[in-house]
Amino acid sequence: MSTLWSDHIAGLVPYVPGEQAHIPNLLKLNTNENPYGPSPRAIEAMRAALTDDMRLYPDYQALALRGTIAGRFGLAADQVFLGNGSDEILAHVFNGLFLRGGRPLWLPDVTYSFYKTYCRLYDVPHRLIPLDEAFILRVADYTGSADPEPAGIIFANPNAPTGRALSLDEIAAIAQARPDSAVVVDEAYVDFGAESAAALIGRFPNILVIHTLSKSRSLAGLRVGYALGHADLIAGLVRVKDSFNSYPMDRVALAGAQAAIEDDAWFDRTRQAVIGAREQLALDLRALGFHVLPSRTNFVFARHPDQDAARMAAGLRESGILVRHFRAPRIDQYLRITVGTPEQCRRLCDALGALLRA
Ligand SMILES: Cc1ncc(COP(=O)(O)O)c(C=O)c1O
Repeated sequence: MSTLWSDHIAGLVPYVPGEQAHIPNLLKLNTNENPYGPSPRAIEAMRAALTDDMRLYPDYQALALRGTIAGRFGLAADQVFLGNGSDEILAHVFNGLFLRGGRPLWLPDVTYSFYKTYCRLYDVPHRLIPLDEAFILRVADYTGSADPEPAGIIFANPNAPTGRALSLDEIAAIAQARPDSAVVVDEAYVDFGAESAAALIGRFPNILVIHTLSKSRSLAGLRVGYALGHADLIAGLVRVKDSFNSYPMDRVALAGAQAAIEDDAWFDRTRQAVIGAREQLALDLRALGFHVLPSRTNFVFARHPDQDAARMAAGLRESGILVRHFRAPRIDQYLRITVGTPEQCRRLCDALGALLRA
């Protein structure tokens, strides 16, 4: 605390990222990174970008990369927005789309915890809508009459940390019912088994879809995300960006992202490997007595009926394995475990088996 801070800083509750520990023989299954590494073509492109041109600012409109991404989704470049990781895009979304005359933002009670952090940062009024007992978002909770109308709605699909996904019809029903609210679908994990709401953008000018290269493209270290939506929504985000930092995408990030997005073969091979390992991991955890939620992501969310989740996380840490435990209502008896390679998943299950026997 300092008396020199701006007034609102003391009231912030910063997001706590997963631990980046330095432990010998570490197995890091706590932040949903991809075990397979980025496309070799992306690495090569980033190396090639390190020339004397680094003295020049990058293209502040990032037209080449936006054009490439737009082409992948059948959209125009002015329907694509880029950010320094999807977290930065989310920050601009909260600032640019959710502050409308005191109307609340609606979001699930169990979802990506950064959303609540942004609510505090930008003083966004909000209403938490409980997921059902199985951690499924009830569409009817979002489609009935409301006074006031929400300024916006945000959820992750598939959701984090639950791993559960809505269908496109369900997302369309929400967007249809709330034409005067931005419906923001955070698809950080969509490539591991859900359908992208990008297919709905032509029908619903109020849908904004957010993707990241941190998970399925294995580029968490590069910090690249993008949003897709109607050109008017994107123009609002561009205004916020250009009032904050015109150059969130550096030259290396632009080159690496472009090559990663173009490498379909690497993308498909690695994400299929993660999906296969996830299904085996769920089976192996169930064999150990865990209840595992069905997952469409690169993590599983599991609890053991006889074991305290915090104690299990601490026990795993002693064997050099990090998983994520949230001290939060409704989910404090769950572990969120990133899917690793088959060998890494085996090491995890062996360590859990030893803890259960102890
Ligand atoms: C649901 C969700 N959205 C967004 C992010 C942020 O991703 P990025 O690395 O692009 O900032 C994460 C990261 O874990 C996430 O789980």
